[in-house]
Amino acid sequence: MADLTNFRRAFAGKKVLITGGLGFIGSNLARRLVALGGRVTIVDALIPEYGGNRRNLAGLRGRVRVHRADVRDWPRLPALVRGQDFLFNLAGQTSHMDSMSDPQTDLDINGRAQLAILEACRVHNPAIRIVFASTRQIYGKPDYLPVDERHPLRPVDVNGINKIAGEAFHLLYSRVHGIRATALRLTNTIGPRMRVKDARQTFVGVWIRRLVEGQPFEVWGGEQLRDFTYVDDAVDAFLLAASRREAEGRVFNLGGPPPVTLRRLAEMLVEINGSGVFLMREFPADRKTIDIGDYYADDRLIGRKLGWKPRTSLRAALTRTLAYYRKELRFYL
Ligand SMILES: NC(=O)c1ccc[n+]([C@@H]2O[C@H](COP(=O)([O-])OP(=O)(O)OC[C@H]3O[C@@H](n4cnc5c(N)ncnc54)[C@H](O)[C@@H]3O)[C@@H](O)[C@H]2O)c1
Repeated sequence: MADLTNFRRAFAGKKVLITGGLGFIGSNLARRLVALGGRVTIVDALIPEYGGNRRNLAGLRGRVRVHRADVRDWPRLPALVRGQDFLFNLAGQTSHMDSMSDPQTDLDINGRAQLAILEACRVHNPAIRIVFASTRQIYGKPDYLPVDERHPLRPVDVNGINKIAGEAFHLLYSRVHGIRATALRLTNTIGPRMRVKDARQTFVGVWIRRLVEGQPFEVWGGEQLRDFTYVDDAVDAFLLAASRREAEGRVFNLGGPPPVTLRRLAEMLVEINGSGVFLMREFPADRKTIDIGDYYADDRLIGRKLGWKPRTSLRAALTRTLAYYRKELRFYL
């Protein structure tokens, strides 16, 4: 399992580039890598509608190099990837709704820019080791549960299509050009530093904001089953994927503790918070068409191959996340 000594050996003194490193998952990864002795560089465009936030790196001043740059700005990429040992490629447009209202931007970031990053690596740093953040969204509405990596890819939105392209480019470059890459298909990830301002990144974010503010929040539908990965467990998976040979050229699902309905999730949040009210609502029509219903991952493959498993219970994940925003909310609004 995610063994600290092995991670130290793998990353201490190593040059690590994180695209999207001011965002939710990228910043948690950056913090862990700094603690392991990694020499971390971040590329992030800090696009206001996305999850990037300078507060996410609080306390790391001088220990991480940050380039405010856009991965769509191709000419900048060679200088950024050159000399790096690892690339954790997390920069992405993540809103499903935005991908429907502005599909070209989603394509530019999640498709074209990914190809440009890989081209920069092929030409300027073919020995780099890459882990790409893919998503469960690419499966669409599940034919069966839990969803394993062989499930058909039939996304319900433009974001899912473009993330398939991003993932496929990584695997192609791995197969054809020998650029060692792994893709992790993340499910709903939660934890400190997620976007809580609105529901753009995840509905759980806005629920937490409303709870901390003492306001009621809305649960749409409510009976959908979902699984949630705590961000520290997701970070373990990124580090394992980057440091293990067996992961090269492969795709793995990440899952979490046993799935719960959204209604149960809302109840747990209120219990942990000690107070709070939520309102059950019908799914709004525009969301309903891109909703995937029940989803939870079969993550046994990464368990078998790399020894990963989610270590954090849902209750612990929610407790830690709420505790963080009780203190930090004002930096995230
Ligand atoms: N959070 C989840 O539940 C989840 C689930 C599945 C997949 N993922 C994937 O994980 C990755 C990280 O997600 P997150 O939740 O941390 O999101 P996030 O929005 O917090 O982080 C993404 C970061 O990428 C940056 N970014 C976006 N476009 C950019 C561009 N053109 N150039 C440079 N930087 C850019 C943003 O500013 C942001 O800081 C994404 O690729 C996402 O698709 C996340």
